[in-house]
Amino acid sequence: MDRIAITGGARLQGEIPISGAKNSAIKLMAASLLTEEALRLTNMPRLADTRFLGKLLQRLGTEVVESVGEDGPETLLRTPEITSGFASYDLVRQMRASFNVLGPLLARTGQAKVSLPGGCTIGARPVDLHLKALEALGARIDLHEGYVYAQAPRGLKGAAIDFPFASVGATEHAMLAAVLAQGETLLTNSACEPEMIDLADCLNAMGAKVSGAGTSTIRIQGVSRLHGATHAVMPDRIETGTYALAAAMAGGEVRLTRTRTDFIQAMIDKMVEAGVEVIPHNDGLTVRRNGALLKAVEFETAVYPGFPTDLQAPFMALMTLADGESVIRETIFENRLMHAPELRRLGADIIVQGGEARVRGVASLEGAQVMATDLRASVCLVIAGLAARGETMVNRVYHLDRGFERLEEKLAACGAQIRRIKGDGEGEED
Ligand code: EPZ
Repeated sequence: MDRIAITGGARLQGEIPISGAKNSAIKLMAASLLTEEALRLTNMPRLADTRFLGKLLQRLGTEVVESVGEDGPETLLRTPEITSGFASYDLVRQMRASFNVLGPLLARTGQAKVSLPGGCTIGARPVDLHLKALEALGARIDLHEGYVYAQAPRGLKGAAIDFPFASVGATEHAMLAAVLAQGETLLTNSACEPEMIDLADCLNAMGAKVSGAGTSTIRIQGVSRLHGATHAVMPDRIETGTYALAAAMAGGEVRLTRTRTDFIQAMIDKMVEAGVEVIPHNDGLTVRRNGALLKAVEFETAVYPGFPTDLQAPFMALMTLADGESVIRETIFENRLMHAPELRRLGADIIVQGGEARVRGVASLEGAQVMATDLRASVCLVIAGLAARGETMVNRVYHLDRGFERLEEKLAACGAQIRRIKGDGEGEED
């Protein structure tokens, strides 16, 4: 398995282009199942997760063609016919978001058999809200031997669905199914994350009638069929925030391009409070820190527009060097502070109790061997390594490859001393 080696201490100077959003791209790819015509997605990130979903879609009958267009990488997805409505445990286990094919399969063909995803390292992550939404739309859902058997032989019917919690995945799933339902669907207490707008924009370009995405009330007027479209994947707000934090951690000046600031405003406000200079511009932002001491800040993760849970780990890395004690509360997932013990291996002073971490800033970190159990925890160790004395070796790099496109290339282009060490076999660290 590959590893990433970082020699800390180099200041960052330069430009990093931000890729298309992973968490949007995989739902947009699933939307291609809703029509027999071609969906062309531009600004596509090339990631392990998007490649994986492409393979799953191929098994369901989708033709997937990757190319490089005028504006970078794109993917053309066309499903003339659904040839299989089955997503196995082996597939869904490897990437939870595969579960999102259930709604589109059901909406297009009236049936599907998709494995339940099960828990993951950051939490139990049930899918009860997804299933309740599909049931409200008229699907019959049976659970047997770890599989969801879903049926709606006479099609889905619009319904009023009030989510008890503003779940990102359940809101997206309900949208993906309701666009082809008969009549109107009203989703209340929906997730407001910007990815909802991206999905609604793509579905509308395909002929759907979705309004209100990005607010807590989404109205969907069902249509009988959707058609092909071209849609540009939104910039990755978590990648944007992560590189902003990398620049703040290492010091120097980095311009992030092909992105926006508004969609991570809660995190930028905390960076500014911590003493980092952030300058928004037309197509992104510049992050500057020239030797100024960082101040400890307090925050808790929340649904959009609050502080994103996906940026909690990398922000914790920054706080390990801040002056004072930073209190960080994780409220979205019950087990998402697993990076704290790894940061401690680098010399950080962190005490975790329940969902709260108290980070007392130290004068410096020291490189060590580390590994993490999920994507955002892994990248937080890379960020810490940028400022640690000596060499930090991040193991289990496959987590990073799931969600960061050319991570080491992008950082090295700004002067980071970072390189990938190719592994010579599978599973050597696990
Ligand atoms: C999405 O996960 C993202 N994943 C996550 O990013 C992100 O952290 C999360 O939204 C929150 O922003 C993708 O988009 C693929 P939720 P999702 O449904 O949809 C509970 C990353 O690193 N819940 O909003 O699974 C759930 O257990 C990943 O890129 C239920 O109880 O998030 C959690 O505690 C990690 N029942 C909370 O809601 C349900 O049916 C939020 O989950 C659904 C969710």
